[in-house]
Amino acid sequence: MAKHLITAALPYINGIKHLGNLVGSMLPADVYARFMRAQGHEVLFFCATDDHGTPAELAAAKKGQDVATFCQEQHEIQKDIYARFGLSFDHFGATSRPENHELTQHIARKLQENGYFEVRSIEQLYSHTDGRFLPDRYVEGTCPHCGYDKARGDQCENCTKVLDPTDLVNPRSAISGSTELEVRKTSHLYLRLDKAQDSLRTWVESKTDWPQLTKSIALKWLDEGLAPRAMTRDLNWGIPVPTDTFGEELAGKVFYVWFDAPIGYIGATKEWANKNGQPEAWQDWWQSKDVTYTEFMGKDNVPFHTIIFPAMLMGTGEPWTLVDHLKSFSWLTYYGGKFSTSQGLGVFTDQALELLPADLWRYYLMSRVPESDDSSFTWQDLQAVVNKDLADVLGNFVNRTVQFSLKKYGEKIPTGGTWGVAEDNFAKDLTTRFEAYTKHMNAMEFRKALHELREIWARGNEYLATVEPWQTYKNDPDQAALQLRTALNAMPLFAAAAAPIIPTIAAKVMTLFGNSLPTNWPTDITAALQATTSGQALHPLEGVLIQKLEDDQIAAWAAHFGGAQAAA
Ligand code: 2FM
Ligand code: ZN
Repeated sequence: MAKHLITAALPYINGIKHLGNLVGSMLPADVYARFMRAQGHEVLFFCATDDHGTPAELAAAKKGQDVATFCQEQHEIQKDIYARFGLSFDHFGATSRPENHELTQHIARKLQENGYFEVRSIEQLYSHTDGRFLPDRYVEGTCPHCGYDKARGDQCENCTKVLDPTDLVNPRSAISGSTELEVRKTSHLYLRLDKAQDSLRTWVESKTDWPQLTKSIALKWLDEGLAPRAMTRDLNWGIPVPTDTFGEELAGKVFYVWFDAPIGYIGATKEWANKNGQPEAWQDWWQSKDVTYTEFMGKDNVPFHTIIFPAMLMGTGEPWTLVDHLKSFSWLTYYGGKFSTSQGLGVFTDQALELLPADLWRYYLMSRVPESDDSSFTWQDLQAVVNKDLADVLGNFVNRTVQFSLKKYGEKIPTGGTWGVAEDNFAKDLTTRFEAYTKHMNAMEFRKALHELREIWARGNEYLATVEPWQTYKNDPDQAALQLRTALNAMPLFAAAAAPIIPTIAAKVMTLFGNSLPTNWPTDITAALQATTSGQALHPLEGVLIQKLEDDQIAAWAAHFGGAQAAA
């Protein structure tokens, strides 16, 4: 038993997330957390809303709410959705809470003590109408290179040239459209990433088991050379830069959202500790040598988690837990294109739950998790996976075994018969498959794991096809009893394997035997298949285990969500 700390990238507060966000960090993190708990490890699994940044401010303004109220409301909405998806966070926090304020200011003070910050004075556009400095993306104007009149302050979309907002001709505020802008000098804290370059490289190179995607992104940043990076902003909403440490020059500034967001992992742990009345307990996880820390995120987040956040923690000189395993993902596309809120393309997490039970989404999304390449969501693919993998394989195995057993032997697990060659082969096969499945899950190779899981269930159907209990029953009801019992004994194994991915369906399988979720990870498969369950109660299932998706349902959803459009 080991201590495993697991975090999923923190979703931005400014709106309900789509299925691509879910499968790109939180869902696989949950599957892994559930698996690790089933392995008997001590696991803590955290996430939180990422509350700061300009998009949050703008979204709140659009709703006519103050940002704090907006964040509280949106936090509850997201939290509820994730609970309904079965995400088993030990705590779901928020980066705008006092715990994160305290930690962020603490880490900033330590960095300052150790010379990891420098103050730079830069020129930025100030909007009189908006009463604020404008971040690069919120300045629009004419591109000095190509004349495109909707170029953004960070880049021209038309000619792709990287810009500074002060390069733009006729700049205007993207928030109000105002042209009453003035170039003002303003001071910011720059994190001396250059100072951390060598220790970061040594550390990154020591990570021999990081996936290719993760490692190549980190090394690319290091190869290009690290430069100091601004870690403060002129905004009202955010964690204030403490003037007792940084002086009046930085009064009124807040930390950059990407500075306090990863600290939010620690903040969420502190919230959890406080909630449990053990305010020091977070240290056992964040300042302890015996913790294995695994992070989950989309690939765009990798530089922040392999370079900037580790540099921040190292720079404090304190013994923080650094990431051990970093699992990153590509994108889930909608019919090969982007999930797009503005064009009404794709499926949001709240909508998804109105259509189907969470477990069907969990299974489908995990079977298509964009592990090495992008993968594409289509309604037709969802239907195929649910019907063919889940309903026809797991559902069919459970239903026909249970129905026949109940019909012939009543509400008891059948007694009698002799274990033979077919059973031996079944046990041997399952043992091999389970080992492979466990190995892939441990390695967080989810595509391979899901493939093995389906194979495990398929072995159940193969066993039934080999021994044919309904035929055996005609001449030898005693032996048919053994065959059905063996198949029934396989069900808790199948459910245990499935539980990290489809916990509700797994729990439902276990109601056959009057149990809730299976807790122990199966190790001795042969013994489990021969378990002395003869005569124990067998309860009928309430309702179907897995509902198939009908063609007309799929067609209606594709039409409603723009799938047909996307396909065209
Ligand atoms: O990309 C995003 O959605 C960010 N909100 C992720 C933050 S992860 C962590 F650092 F907080
Ligand atoms: Zn241009």
